[in-house]
Amino acid sequence: MQTNQSDVLVIGGGIAGLMFALKVADQRKVNLLLKDSFEECSTQYAQGGINAVLSEGDSFDAHIEDTINCGYGLCHKEVVQTVVHGGPKAISELVELGVSFTRTEHGGYELHREGGHQHRRVVHAKDATGAEIMRALREKASTHPNITVWFDYIAIDLILVYEAGSKTLTSKTQVVGAYVLDAKSNRVHAFTAQMTYLATGGIGKIYPYTSNPRTATGDGIVMAYRAGLDVVNMEFIQFHPTLLHHHSERKFLISEALRGQGGILRNQAGEPFMANYHPELRDLAPRDVVARAIDSELKRTGSECVFLDMTQLPADEVVDHFPTIYKKLLTLGIDITKQQIPVVPAAHYSCGGVRVDLDGKTSCLGLMAGGECTFTGLHGSNRLASNSLLEAAVYAHRSADYVLNHSSHNASPPQAVADWVYHNYSDEHEESLLDPLWNEMKWFMWNYVGIVRSDKRLQRAVRRIQSLRTEIEESYWNFSISKDLIELRNISIIAELVIRSAVVRKESRGLNYNVDHPAPNPTMAKDTCISKARQGLFR
Ligand code: FAD
Ligand code: SIN
Repeated sequence: MQTNQSDVLVIGGGIAGLMFALKVADQRKVNLLLKDSFEECSTQYAQGGINAVLSEGDSFDAHIEDTINCGYGLCHKEVVQTVVHGGPKAISELVELGVSFTRTEHGGYELHREGGHQHRRVVHAKDATGAEIMRALREKASTHPNITVWFDYIAIDLILVYEAGSKTLTSKTQVVGAYVLDAKSNRVHAFTAQMTYLATGGIGKIYPYTSNPRTATGDGIVMAYRAGLDVVNMEFIQFHPTLLHHHSERKFLISEALRGQGGILRNQAGEPFMANYHPELRDLAPRDVVARAIDSELKRTGSECVFLDMTQLPADEVVDHFPTIYKKLLTLGIDITKQQIPVVPAAHYSCGGVRVDLDGKTSCLGLMAGGECTFTGLHGSNRLASNSLLEAAVYAHRSADYVLNHSSHNASPPQAVADWVYHNYSDEHEESLLDPLWNEMKWFMWNYVGIVRSDKRLQRAVRRIQSLRTEIEESYWNFSISKDLIELRNISIIAELVIRSAVVRKESRGLNYNVDHPAPNPTMAKDTCISKARQGLFR
């Protein structure tokens, strides 16, 4: 087995992985793994932007208050304060790295507003903020002499070194790297390092309707879970209210910033309906409220979609602020300055993930994590729009600082690594079942563990996932390893974690709405934690 060694191993090349890699690379050798291309990650598709308190009317206290209100009692205040205060610096760092944000004619940042925000604070690059961030970070990382980028290399599992005499996780367990499949040759390599940084992004692919790219299969969360680490708050899946509803374009987001600019949601009869669900904030209510309102309108009227109406705004304003969305929809025959946009809710963001502390450290030596695959405590039970790019940037900075200034969390220089054991059996007939298994799972997740849940549906989901998991594990251990098999196995474990977390939370709070427990229960204002060793609500 080939072994590649570096000081630092970064798994994932979105905003979290790239910012962390670029910061440590001035003093450390970095191997950076991407299981696909640079373009295939959530960061690339981000439209709205990144929050920072930069206008005169705004304040850190207001941003903290909005984040905490949105998180319905589960945000960790110290984390919220740290991230919010880190906003302006995160923007300057991105600019130093070459990101060009949209400016006003006076040179300041043009700020958008989104749901749940009291003020305009979304720094953006028109409506293609993520693409601009990726352009700049990708250019820097590709040319950095201390960063080696490995495309189509998918990490399978962490390489663990247990405390002498132990086979379970203790405070001395070390992560010394990862087993990684070269997806082109189907050979497994060991990548070893004193510090491994998980930045593998989200989990949207557990659902049939999602804004997420195909890489969002929760690999990092599952690797950490298999290693015995805590995975927290997985029931809180954010459904974005407005994914384009179109037969040929199935994951194109219509940014919340359109509603921030004055867009209005209307039902099939043309009626604006958000005042019926949130009389005060209406179309700019937090995302959970808007997504449930649309779900309810769809069920009430039996229609396939609702509509976002921008036609009341001056056409030049719409085109100027949202050129990407305008042009994209024009290619599909929809002129958004004259026609309403058909939209539906879709899975968008995971508030849960691998537990990390304020520096991004996990409870294993040699392992840190950042970005959407983590649980930091920032979002609570619902994420405030445009807080996730901010969280990834602030934590990448803190984690890099930690790595450069401390060695106490490092793993010891890795010794010999056990060879990967191949199961060299392939059967085309059996392999053709992988897609149907994934489809089956996505649909029952949508129907039983979607925007609106019930105890009965969750119990059905428990039964379905158990039988699917058994079938998938059988395939995993009997067939030749492949990218498809790794992802299917991971996504089924993520589905199981989401279901088990939703079963534990017998209340409605934030993104977890259960008709059998329609109100928040103050005794449950705690995080849901699952690991191999324990399961329950803890703070
Ligand atoms: P990603 O950007 O998804 O990167 C993950 C990386 O991990 C990829 O390079 C992938 O190849 C790699 N990877 C995954 N598994 C493996 C593996 N096993 N081995 C090797 N590599 C692996 N947030 C905001 O704050 N503002 C917005 O405006 C906004 N808009 C959004 C719009 C869309 C359409 C989407 C989908 C999300 C949006 N979000 C937004 C959320 C935000 O974009 C994401 O939370 C954030 O980009 C996640 O960054 P990340 O670096 O953690 O993950
Ligand atoms: C959007 O542009 O609506 C997405 C913002 C986000 O997910 O934070």
